[in-house]
Amino acid sequence: MIPYEQLFENNKKWVADNVAKNADFLDKLSRDQTPEYLYIGCSDSRVPANDIMGLEPGEVFVHRNVANLVVSIDMNVMSVINYAVRHLKVKHVIVCGHYNCGGVKAAMTPTDLGILNPWLRNIRDVYRLHEEELDNITDEHAKYNRLVELNVYEQCLNVIKTAAVQEEYIESGYPRVHGWVFDLKTGLLKDLQFDFEASLKKIQKLYDLTGFMKAQKNK
Ligand code: CO
Repeated sequence: MIPYEQLFENNKKWVADNVAKNADFLDKLSRDQTPEYLYIGCSDSRVPANDIMGLEPGEVFVHRNVANLVVSIDMNVMSVINYAVRHLKVKHVIVCGHYNCGGVKAAMTPTDLGILNPWLRNIRDVYRLHEEELDNITDEHAKYNRLVELNVYEQCLNVIKTAAVQEEYIESGYPRVHGWVFDLKTGLLKDLQFDFEASLKKIQKLYDLTGFMKAQKNK
């Protein structure tokens, strides 16, 4: 284990290393942020957002929670999306899950997990929406991996259901939403090829918050 005091030493070394690499490092750090990406990922300590994408401070706005969920009544994630999309004008929103996600595993365990029950219930709902496909996977490991992917897919849809994303997209063509999975065994990111435009159209049939679909119909 790294001693607690060491963290401050690490921090000083991090500053020194970065300044040595780039003399403007602190100048840049203290300027206003203009990230083009919003990353929504799992809190899991093995999935460090900036590192896996090779991005520097200032380049990605990050939100992490247990099992990378986008829940419409969670003020935290909704505030993050709203701020990133409407004010920072990020061009891409990435929902990133990871295989072997403890949150996803826990969600499917028949145990009372206390305060985690309502949170992880969202994953059981993802299972219910894709029950037929998942029930047909006999290998337990493969089933969990697929559930991780489908959870990312459903959270991408949840991002699209927000007024912030719908309105900004109509106005500027951004942001676009992407679904990824991080593989702990290889360290590689997998793009799930989430079809943003088709999904937006599909979602807006029921979740249109802009009157856009109605206006299109009346044209
Ligand atoms: Co996780």
